[in-house]
Amino acid sequence: MTDRGVRIEPSILSADFAAFAAEIERIPSADLVHCDVMDLHFVPNLTFGRSTVERLAQVSALPLDVHLMIEDPDRWAPGFAEAGGAVVTFHAEAARAPIATARAIRAAGAKAGLALRPSTPVEPYLGLLDEFDQVLVMTVEPGFGGQAFLPPTLERIRAVRSAIGDRDVWLQVDGGIGEDTIADAAAAGADTFVAGSAVFGQDDPDTAVERLRALATEAQERSR
Ligand code: DX5
Ligand code: ZN
Repeated sequence: MTDRGVRIEPSILSADFAAFAAEIERIPSADLVHCDVMDLHFVPNLTFGRSTVERLAQVSALPLDVHLMIEDPDRWAPGFAEAGGAVVTFHAEAARAPIATARAIRAAGAKAGLALRPSTPVEPYLGLLDEFDQVLVMTVEPGFGGQAFLPPTLERIRAVRSAIGDRDVWLQVDGGIGEDTIADAAAAGADTFVAGSAVFGQDDPDTAVERLRALATEAQERSR
């Protein structure tokens, strides 16, 4: 099996919204910074948009992974790549033309990601894997941090992992990932882990990142 590696992405949804730049400096061991963009329509919550992402890309030493929980990503997603997102992930449920949107994101210089809510069948999207650099299997209903991991999503992670095969496509999980759940997600095949409350809810967020990385790496190696 090829070495998948482990990426840990703290979500600034659980950080201090008045101090994003300082919060990012508290997690130097992280691989990317997860930026949750919500529009009050696709999910019942509102965060920030393109101008904030553009500014964060200027000040962050870490690359940004932008998770778009918005309607009409076909229209808006490429702009988040132009704003400096290293990865731009949009939801399959909201996209009318996911292939064209993924190509537009890549043409703007970012990696393209496809996100699936816990109740969205994965099979219809497995044929699109060559168009994407990341698949995000949501492990909670999107919208809020601090929710409990949904165990039935493990089977979905396994299905996507087996479909990815040898492709260089990251398999991301997001929601309820912490020290109690990350090993199960890694053993099922995830290699990219978003953690909000489990990182920024700790006194020392960078130590939390390292602990999550150790647990995921160990589980990944054990499952080989
Ligand atoms: C939820 C967001 C997540 C959120 C995860 O819709 O997509 O990225 O920050 O928060 P935790 O890790 O606390 O479940
Ligand atoms: Zn997210």
